[in-house]
Amino acid sequence: MDYDLSAQNTFRMKVRCSCYVEYETLKELEGLNFDRLPRPLLHIGAGSNLLFTKDFPGTVLHSNIEYIKYVDMGLDEVPVMVGAGVVWDHFVAETCRHGLWGAENLSLIPGEVGAAAVQNIGAYGVEVKDILSGVVAFDLQERRKVRFSREECRYGYRDSLFKQPEMKGRYVITSVLFRLSRKSGPRLDYKGVREALGGRDCVTPQEVREAIIHIRRQKLPDPDEIGSAGSFFKNPVVSREDFVRISPDGSAPHFDLPDGTVKVPAAWMIDQCGFKGAVQGGAAVWPKQPLVLVNQSGEASPEDVLALEQRIVNGVQERFGVTLHPEVDHI
Ligand code: EPU
Repeated sequence: MDYDLSAQNTFRMKVRCSCYVEYETLKELEGLNFDRLPRPLLHIGAGSNLLFTKDFPGTVLHSNIEYIKYVDMGLDEVPVMVGAGVVWDHFVAETCRHGLWGAENLSLIPGEVGAAAVQNIGAYGVEVKDILSGVVAFDLQERRKVRFSREECRYGYRDSLFKQPEMKGRYVITSVLFRLSRKSGPRLDYKGVREALGGRDCVTPQEVREAIIHIRRQKLPDPDEIGSAGSFFKNPVVSREDFVRISPDGSAPHFDLPDGTVKVPAAWMIDQCGFKGAVQGGAAVWPKQPLVLVNQSGEASPEDVLALEQRIVNGVQERFGVTLHPEVDHI
């Protein structure tokens, strides 16, 4: 186990892998001698949605493909091609500076562009799939470049083709094509966004970005100060009958989905179970947003995090009869 991965995962788990490889271009990736790399292979982004549960026996790959190319600034809908290794928020910051609409609600989300397209990251009423029009990837099985349209990526809530068990690890995303807009299109309906803008509707992408940053900074831990992987659990979707059982008077926060099911914030359930601020060894539940587990001491072990996860899953199961599923990838 040669390589220390502490700096490659935002949870700051002190784990190691056999081999770590970074590359700068698609050509360099194609030219790697895959047959000689220790298996299994794991491709990571910024490591901001991962929990390493132990040392990784194989090779960890990371992309440094970093470019942002505005294909045609003259159009109303501007196509932008972005390398998978670009830090997500650098992309958002730059496009907002150019006055382009689309990515502003996704400000300050940790991670890189390639992983954002795998994960279909989302926040404040917007998901990556809403602004993405295609993906270029390298097929590790057939060792060739492939393109996917947005439809082919099969996006769902924090889900995509690239996360399906039969596809996992097969494709390495090398660049992502976005479609951003010059026409004003603020999306301010998520709770708290309009308020953060002082009730104004006529705003710029930069102003929306600043409002989102303000909201996130109040609720979420500063990644430079405390290790975490963002939301640890997905928000569960339950049937209407189950929602009535969970909240007979309907007062629990919830979102009605078009198919009649109901999404209930996991943060609310965890909060109701009294887990805010709960501590397990070096790990803890973030008091301001209990969906986030943190490496409080800086020395938390994977076992601490897993034990805390289990306590929460059991607590929510007992109280609400709902099984929470992790959003963070367990490696
Ligand atoms: N809530 C409580 N107690 C709390 C905090 C929240 O009851 O202490 C309830 C409130 O009713 C609140 C609701 O939970 O209205 C939702 O909270 P929030 O708006 O913070 O959103 P979330 O559903 O907990 C999701 C994403 C976040 C994203 C926010 C904002 C998932 C798994 N998480 O969280 O994404 O930033 O919405 O859009 O969908 C991430 O994926 O890492 C992430 C941070």
